[in-house]
Amino acid sequence: MPQIQPSISRQELLCAETPAAPCGMVVFGASGDLARRKLIASLFELYKRQLLGEQFFFLGCGRKHLSDDDYRNIAADSISDSTTTPEQLSSFLEKIYFITGAYDDAAFYEDIAGRLAELDAKYNTGGNHVYYFAVPPAIYGTIAEHLGNAGLSCKGSPECRRRAKLVVEKPFGRDLKSAIVLNEQIQNHFSESQIYRIDHYLGKETVQNILMLRFANAIFEPLWNRNYIDHIQITIAESLGVEHRAGYYDRSGALRDMFQNHMLGMVGLVAMEPPASFGADHIRDEKVKLLRSIRPLEPGADEPTVVAGRYIAGQIAGRDVCAYRREEGVAPDSTTETFVAAKVFVDNWRWKGVPFYLRTGKRLAKRLTEIAITFKTVPHSMFASIGLEDMPPNVLVLKIQPNEGINLSFQAKRPGSKTCMSTLTMNFNYAEVFGAEAPEAYQRLLLDCMVGDQTLFTRQDDVEISWTLLDPVLNVMARGELPPFDYPAGVESFGHADALIEADGRKWRPILEVE
Ligand code: BG6
Repeated sequence: MPQIQPSISRQELLCAETPAAPCGMVVFGASGDLARRKLIASLFELYKRQLLGEQFFFLGCGRKHLSDDDYRNIAADSISDSTTTPEQLSSFLEKIYFITGAYDDAAFYEDIAGRLAELDAKYNTGGNHVYYFAVPPAIYGTIAEHLGNAGLSCKGSPECRRRAKLVVEKPFGRDLKSAIVLNEQIQNHFSESQIYRIDHYLGKETVQNILMLRFANAIFEPLWNRNYIDHIQITIAESLGVEHRAGYYDRSGALRDMFQNHMLGMVGLVAMEPPASFGADHIRDEKVKLLRSIRPLEPGADEPTVVAGRYIAGQIAGRDVCAYRREEGVAPDSTTETFVAAKVFVDNWRWKGVPFYLRTGKRLAKRLTEIAITFKTVPHSMFASIGLEDMPPNVLVLKIQPNEGINLSFQAKRPGSKTCMSTLTMNFNYAEVFGAEAPEAYQRLLLDCMVGDQTLFTRQDDVEISWTLLDPVLNVMARGELPPFDYPAGVESFGHADALIEADGRKWRPILEVE
């Protein structure tokens, strides 16, 4: 197995992370799942790593009647970390507060403004606030408007704008029209430089590593095009079902929940042209340019380019799981898809004719996210005379999760007097090489937002172009013309999804075989 040595020492100075500026984090929907599962734990981790200083506080906002202490107990339960000392935990929890009110009541925002003034004075946070919308998207506009009317959005002067930031969770709209309306509602009170549209996939180490791999190494980029690449497969498979989010998911489905954001985000990074620099707008410009080059999807065409699926009862890791339509909170006659596969082409000089096969689904055989780049086979086999006519292609796999890393497969001679060939894999594993698990994506994104770096956040033109691509599919789905096919929970794939790729003489990569 080849040894891989990271040359990290000379980078150490550059690698030092920038601590957050003094700031109050104001979370709407603070008693909800996202805040409890991700935000509090990530903020605590930043605090432990001294990236959040003492000039920090957290103000949870929600409809539930909770005292500061009630909410601190909830927060403490979200932090399950054996390396935490009681002192660290209590000094973090002391900075947490909660305020109750109705999101559509102007008086609530007056109360928030009053509380913020007190907390700013106490923590010396200089009026810097991050407002985080961890609420259903239907009320984003209402909250933004009330924040504006209460004078909290700070749109006025550039100096003030730097003090108020807004983090918006996906989905940003349900389609192009609603995304434009939502954006107008928010931009009435916040300018684009204040808006951080979060796509947590972009915060994953291995997703960011796509840019490093491509643009910090000379050997890949010359091959990264239609002359050498046969096709690309991107898989986001989940073994989980809808858990307790059926209310949201049944109105969204896989296309809105995973494709419009995470999937197209990864397509953008893997296929974009080299940005002029690592600046937020240079990277986002290239991503948008790439998305604009994607050929419009034609779901109704004779040869299917989009396939939808919905899980029925099955087994995952030996455990029986129920059908999607039997999940609590899902309509028994739901038409929502829990799986989507698509064949996509990027019509530009680099990618013309190279298919991108994309698939994502819930309740598949196991959790796996990867980008597999399959190169063209050798043009001629000099080993044909000894029976080695068909050489397997080289495949470069960017393993996003779990077991983050990179694999490259290639052919080699097996030891012995015969000329026998084996396919070997060079395997780089993040955790083994860097000695640590990749940090939770939200840590990176929350910190970036607090230091004012928008690189990993989605710009409005990106949102609009991705909805433009998906609207035709959503329309066909809404008319019932792309009904989801049943697949048993726990499968790696199913017939109709296979047909999409097999029509081109290729196969999906097996999900279960990946370690
Ligand atoms: C979220 C989706 O954005 O991503 C969920 O709303 C999905 O439905 C989740 O389960 C997957 O994220 P991860 O990081 O576990 O791959």
